[in-house]
Amino acid sequence: MTYLGIDIGTSGVKALLIDEHGRALGEASAPAVEPVRPHPGWSEQNPTDWWTATLAAIDKLKASHPTELASVRGIGLSGHMHGATLLGKDDEVLRPCILWNDGRSAAECLEMEAALPTLRDLAGNIAMPGFTAPKIAWVRKHEPAIYDRIAKVLLPKAYVRLLLTGEHVEDMSDAAGTLWLDVKKRDWSDDLLAVTGLTRDHMPRLVEGSAPSAQLKRDLAQRWGMDGAVIVAGGAGDNAAAACGIGAIRPGEGFVSLGTSGVLFVSNEKFSPNTAGAVHAFCHAIPDTWHQMGVILSATDSLNWLSRITGKKQAELSGEAEAQFTGPGEAIFLPYLSGERTPHNNAGARGSFTGLSQSTDTAQMAQAVMEGVTFAMRDCQRVLADAGTKIDRLLAVGGGSKSALWLKMLATNLDMEIALPEDGDFGGALGAARLGLCAAEGAKPADVMAMPPIRTTIAPDKSLSAAYSDQYARYRALYPAIEEARK
Ligand code: XUL
Repeated sequence: MTYLGIDIGTSGVKALLIDEHGRALGEASAPAVEPVRPHPGWSEQNPTDWWTATLAAIDKLKASHPTELASVRGIGLSGHMHGATLLGKDDEVLRPCILWNDGRSAAECLEMEAALPTLRDLAGNIAMPGFTAPKIAWVRKHEPAIYDRIAKVLLPKAYVRLLLTGEHVEDMSDAAGTLWLDVKKRDWSDDLLAVTGLTRDHMPRLVEGSAPSAQLKRDLAQRWGMDGAVIVAGGAGDNAAAACGIGAIRPGEGFVSLGTSGVLFVSNEKFSPNTAGAVHAFCHAIPDTWHQMGVILSATDSLNWLSRITGKKQAELSGEAEAQFTGPGEAIFLPYLSGERTPHNNAGARGSFTGLSQSTDTAQMAQAVMEGVTFAMRDCQRVLADAGTKIDRLLAVGGGSKSALWLKMLATNLDMEIALPEDGDFGGALGAARLGLCAAEGAKPADVMAMPPIRTTIAPDKSLSAAYSDQYARYRALYPAIEEARK
């Protein structure tokens, strides 16, 4: 028997097949059309593009691994979180999805918190523009004709599930990022829904990530050669799915992710909010478990920006930085190119370079960008610690973890060892496939969500600790000063 994980990412869809022991059998991916930015700070994607990329990725697997794909018994979904996919009464898409990194709804966030003073307690989170509910408040105000036609609001992976199964269902971890969930009770909150004029009827049915959600449609099963019932698990938001993929399901186990966005994730045995530090306190993808995250909006996306304007590839830039690295330099970069969530909760924040001179070259700029992202993750660690959270174990995931220098900066600044998994896919697709296995076979998550083999463990470089603490203090002083000057 085999299980399929489908990870719907902002830049593409990955499909991964595993066997009943969780071993990877094959994978395929298909790019998505890049998000469009109709205005600065906005970010939108067409939901049908996710579906096109999903079909393309699975069709590729059919070509490369037909027998293994035909044996699929369970499917798990992972997806980028928070996106508002608005559907009309016949499930037609009403407008492009407003994505997780869209900052247009800052005013609506303030209005929502004023309308419901208990919002932060109920949701366990601040109303942030990245989350789903404020986007609906924006649509209500600016596109009332569309708002009036909303029959259902789905997150990106729930939209793909709808096309796979015909059912409206969402899992707890992704639902927690809408701001409509009572995260402690793991149920929709009528009070939170009412703030945006919605009711439970507008919401998908809720299931745990490791539980069955629906069955794959017959015609799709036939297209991929699958016999019998194929169960689709609840699945998870991409971060909770990545945690399932690296075995971070017990309290204190976590990961640092350097992807488009940056995430410091830790599992908790109970619901543990810290709204003062803009910590995300969400349900995990398995029952009776929660997690916290510090989220920064531009991690590798900051290097991506530098790559676009210098014409050098990201790997080339990080390689140049590594070749000439001796310790923190003069240049300091604030990575707030798309605004920031943790710890500032400021969609209007913007990036900055300071300390440039005539001799600053692209290598030094790349180093400063990698350091700026590292300091932003250090900020996340600080606010998680303020919430009383101790991280016991940290694995590195995401494209940025390919850079040895970036990992050394992180280990030194977080002052803890960081384990780097062997090559392979330990991201959302593996976690999703594992959730598919649990849902189809009734397997216990703890028996399935093992830690991957570790290639190497990066220790803090103590010789750089003091210099980095000084540089971090300078970095922290810049944000309030620059924000003041931009007023
Ligand atoms: C988490 C978040 C991002 C997205 C995109 O809150 O917004 O990590 O899930 O990956």
